Amino acid sequence: MAFPCCFEFLLSVTVYVEAVFTCHYLFCWAPVTLHRGPSTEWIVRNKLTPGGLQTLRVDSVASPEPNSDTVLLNISWTLKQDGSIQMLKATKICVDGKGRFSSYSCVRCNYTEVFHSQTAPHGSKWEFHYVGFPIKPETPYFIRAHNIPPANMNEDITAISVKFTSPDCQDPVMKYTKKCREYGSLWTPNITACQKEKSVEVNFSTSSLGCKYLVLVENDEDVLGNSDILELNQSRASVIIPVTAEKGKGAMVQIIPYFPTCNNDCIRRRGTIFSCPEIISPVNVNTSQPRTHQMFLILPTLSVAIWALAVGFYFMWRHEKVKKSLLHSPTLLPPIKVLLVYHPQACFYHTVCDFAKYLQDHCRSDVILDQWQKRKIAEMGLVLWLTTQKKEADRIVFLFSSRAETCDSSCNPNAGRHRESSQDLFTLAFNLFCSDLKSQASLDKYLVVSLGEAALAEDHSALSVCPGYRLMKDASPFCKDLLTI
Ligand SMILES: *[C@@H]1O[C@H](CO)[C@@H](O)[C@H](O)[C@H]1NC(C)=O
Ligand SMILES: *[C@@H]1O[C@H](CO)[C@@H](O)[C@H](O)[C@H]1NC(C)=O
Ligand SMILES: *[C@@H]1O[C@H](CO)[C@@H](O)[C@H](O)[C@H]1NC(C)=O
Ligand SMILES: *[C@@H]1O[C@H](CO)[C@@H](O)[C@H](O)[C@H]1NC(C)=O
Repeated sequence: MAFPCCFEFLLSVTVYVEAVFTCHYLFCWAPVTLHRGPSTEWIVRNKLTPGGLQTLRVDSVASPEPNSDTVLLNISWTLKQDGSIQMLKATKICVDGKGRFSSYSCVRCNYTEVFHSQTAPHGSKWEFHYVGFPIKPETPYFIRAHNIPPANMNEDITAISVKFTSPDCQDPVMKYTKKCREYGSLWTPNITACQKEKSVEVNFSTSSLGCKYLVLVENDEDVLGNSDILELNQSRASVIIPVTAEKGKGAMVQIIPYFPTCNNDCIRRRGTIFSCPEIISPVNVNTSQPRTHQMFLILPTLSVAIWALAVGFYFMWRHEKVKKSLLHSPTLLPPIKVLLVYHPQACFYHTVCDFAKYLQDHCRSDVILDQWQKRKIAEMGLVLWLTTQKKEADRIVFLFSSRAETCDSSCNPNAGRHRESSQDLFTLAFNLFCSDLKSQASLDKYLVVSLGEAALAEDHSALSVCPGYRLMKDASPFCKDLLTI
């Protein structure tokens, strides 16, 4: 069998030729230009057309090219076993990527021989695969394949499609891609952390990508303590984080890096907290005292211990009784409604969304955010929407952020348009709620949160009567105050 046009195309485009069986070859051809239009076979009417594909499977694989960090799709398919297989000339596969930037491309795989048999030489189904289409981490892809010649107009469409979401940067293959490396996927912080009496000591290795880090001690619900944003030059850092609250079960350390390549979006790391090895005090080591002396020491200690134990049990018993009679379980309390009003300078995707998520995850709140209710606002109008939300919300939080400069380029593709609408909302909310700020009773509803170094501007000084919090520094008092109504 001759392959008349293979070499011609090999010269002009990148192709992967996969020999699957000894007597049949698959030749896949990716046009350099976008192959959006219909295949030429669509135009003519074919008397007989092949059936669809039996199966279509997709997986991600490292590029077979040496020194390449690209991750590709491995698309495999099997052919239906029926007589129409003799008509089959080619299979066209299109991949539609739905990430931040959508992409669309197709390949056409010509079968180099006519199929004379419905099964492959060993009696199994005809199976082929194609490796190509570079992919990005955590992106949904729609893969659609149909056989050529295609079904005629008004006949059943025989295309078959699958959805595939590419793995994230933790994936052993994906983590080597350029994008993941820039997000810190190859950084091994090697975190060690141990609990002292009122603090947690955290050691970790810094990354060559950047020197800014924030270290948190947290459990499932709360941030128990945190560092300032650290600027570290050394390769191994050691920080001591004061922890005010009791370290609950399952407390962890979280390290948030701020590399210039990914700002607030870099890959965050967690580590377990152990108890620090105790320093053995000399009293315990000293065993040279005679036995009788020891007895004199042990007896009073023992009675004190028993007494303490009894008192302990009594308090535990009382505590249980109080707990039973007062509340069923703290987790059963309904969430509180928080209306979030943010300064137009705050970066929506990185800062406002993150903060809203923080409120929902850590402070038992249902967040009301204008960007999440765009349709309702369009229907009701901004003023009515805002007054309604003001009535419904248990709390109203004004959010200020100082990280305006990182916003435009990296976070919001249409920053300008969004900024105008949030400007309206902020000004309107500020003016609407200002009358409330004069009465102590309704004042309790308002909280002001500043992220980082943000400060209240002069024209918003009316808000300075509200309780103010600086995050992440005041994270735990903020949450507590937010929830006590
Ligand atoms: C692609 O998938 C096929 C079928 O599952 C498999 O035989 C082949 O080894 C895979 N290719 C790579 C590069 O993993
Ligand atoms: C595949 O088949 C079509 C139609 O016969 C032809 O136009 C195209 O050049 C072929 N591609 C290759 C790479 O052989
Ligand atoms: C991680 O830290 C431990 C203890 O400090 C050390 O023994 C180990 O070699 C480190 N591993 C790496 C990969 O840095
Ligand atoms: C952190 O590093 C310091 C200094 O190297 C060491 O004394 C301490 O034991 C380490 N702590 C932990 C929790 O690894």
